[in-house]
Amino acid sequence: PPSTIPAPPERIPPGVLAARDYERLAEQCIPADRLAYIAGGSGEDWTARANSAAFGRWSIVPRVLRDLRTGHTRVRIAGEVWAQPIGLAPVAFQKLVHPRGERETARAAAATHSPLLLSTLATTPLEEVAGLLSPEAGQPRPWLQLYLQPRREDTLALLRRAEAAGYGAIVLTLDASIQLASHRALRAGFRMPADCVPAHGSIGVPASALPAGASRIFQGAMAQSARHEDLAWLRGATTLPVWVKGVLDPADARALADAGCAGIVVSNHGGRTVDGVAPSLSLLPAVREAIGSHVPLLFDGGIRSGADVFKALALGANAVLVGRLQLYALAAAGALGVAHLLQLLGEELQACMAVAGCASVADIGPDRLLAVPDFN
Ligand code: FNR
Repeated sequence: PPSTIPAPPERIPPGVLAARDYERLAEQCIPADRLAYIAGGSGEDWTARANSAAFGRWSIVPRVLRDLRTGHTRVRIAGEVWAQPIGLAPVAFQKLVHPRGERETARAAAATHSPLLLSTLATTPLEEVAGLLSPEAGQPRPWLQLYLQPRREDTLALLRRAEAAGYGAIVLTLDASIQLASHRALRAGFRMPADCVPAHGSIGVPASALPAGASRIFQGAMAQSARHEDLAWLRGATTLPVWVKGVLDPADARALADAGCAGIVVSNHGGRTVDGVAPSLSLLPAVREAIGSHVPLLFDGGIRSGADVFKALALGANAVLVGRLQLYALAAAGALGVAHLLQLLGEELQACMAVAGCASVADIGPDRLLAVPDFN
């Protein structure tokens, strides 16, 4: 069978009333084996499910008689103004769900002035994506998510390309040294189609060349994974601000902020590393507390609605990123779907802000949330 799937019609699918509906539609828009790969986490998907379920622990506390006539969702993140505190997470291999892949996502980012983080494993060259965004028209510059390449010269080449193409930041992903497959994807027989190839880089060296008896994990994946000195090297090797993604531990976050990282993305990679990892939201307040109020902090993992966005902001994030929802909307209606998703998330967030009496994102604090007592 052809591995490229046909483009969906560019119209908002009937029945999409809320951002979450794009997840419900995914079964109709994405072949079952590909959906298993995308939706699945690691192992039995416990962490992936827990990421979303964690939002159910919190409820929103309303206010009345507040003057919200000047209300808005704009945020300033590391010097750039975003129309709403919602960006597109780096998600690899977008041609799995749309023949034009990341180009469509970039068109949606341009139309909605949303930040886009391009994966190292994108199926579209980073220059092409940058060419679809106009910072001079007020659209945020794209950021490049980086996997350190096995050879430093290859990482340097990527950095030079990102700098030349006008990227605004490098986001180094630290949590993907170990990525155990989703059992759901294995059972569905998912294999990456031969023509779905990354446009620029790899995720690391395959551990196939290890001597007999060596540990695939420790002498393989972990021997190649980044250490603090690699981060220091990276910061010295580029003129761009360096963020780090995939941090959950408060002490790690503190050390990274102290080391001069431009910002931190609290994330567990959508539950795709090892099953049993803590839900991303559960550690967000402790990370915020550890780094103080001034270090920029993005959050991802399990966001499916504007209420989820509100809760993440209340628990300490400056903005959030969406991963899977982005692919579901891309599969359903291309650029229009992704733009529509971002608009729905923004409107749902505005409704939560209105009911909670928050005129700006800065007003959304932990006092707007109440823990649901019987949550389990
Ligand atoms: C990802 N994610 C990811 N992260 C990253 O830093 N580089 C990458 O290339 C990818 N690729 C990728 C592919 C797919 C199919 C998924 C689902 C996820 C993780 C992503 O950036 C983000 O952390 C999570 O997706 C957030 O969780 P939600 O929004 O999907 O629940």
